[in-house]
Amino acid sequence: IADTLIAPLLLDWYDRHRRDLPWRARPGETPDPYRVWLSEVMLQQTTVATVRPRFAAWIARWPDFESLAAAPDDEVMAAWAGLGYYARARNLLRAAKAVVADHGGTFPRTEAELRTLPGLGAYTAAAVAAIAFGERAVVVDANVERVGARLFAIATPLPAGRAAIRVAADAVTPERRAGDFAQALMDLGSAICTPKKPRCLLCPLQAHCAGFATGAPEAFPVKAAK
Ligand code: ADE
Repeated sequence: IADTLIAPLLLDWYDRHRRDLPWRARPGETPDPYRVWLSEVMLQQTTVATVRPRFAAWIARWPDFESLAAAPDDEVMAAWAGLGYYARARNLLRAAKAVVADHGGTFPRTEAELRTLPGLGAYTAAAVAAIAFGERAVVVDANVERVGARLFAIATPLPAGRAAIRVAADAVTPERRAGDFAQALMDLGSAICTPKKPRCLLCPLQAHCAGFATGAPEAFPVKAAK
């Protein structure tokens, strides 16, 4: 399954079709780890459309770890209003304080060190390591899971099928541009490999997609029978 063509094809597609999102570095710019982290936490349970204005307002108020670490608890919680899952806001503040107190105001670079911070679970640590620092981390959210399940026609139903999806994602993640690769999978999942009626005719990976070859890509990921 180590299809070495998948990453170059997808990165080429990303270079032509990437979404310009306020937390993304443009080509040639250096990503800001604070922005990458904040956006990944906001996007965990909330849509891109909702996050956009909330991200901008947050950055205008607290543009970096230092300013956030100094913010009063109640103001941070009030700024999160409506985004849901308030533990995320509490952990943002706790992590900012830890970055300032224990790491000199900058994020540690590796997935393993990132995971020691409050609220940085497997997904967020991998996303920050890849997108902000270019580490080769495997970043799997629900969209990437769907793309992976289709690409490799993973027949094991979720949740057990997640292990196979992760192995496949690991096998195709490139050494270089792992952050762009992760975001390319997210953009592909959002624009092309959608839950219903995927636009396979526009997909740069169509010729390599086992799900497309079955004739019923929408059947993946397979869900456990209720
Ligand atoms: N969803 C989660 N992280 C994202 C990102 N970096 N870009 C677009 N959608 C996302």
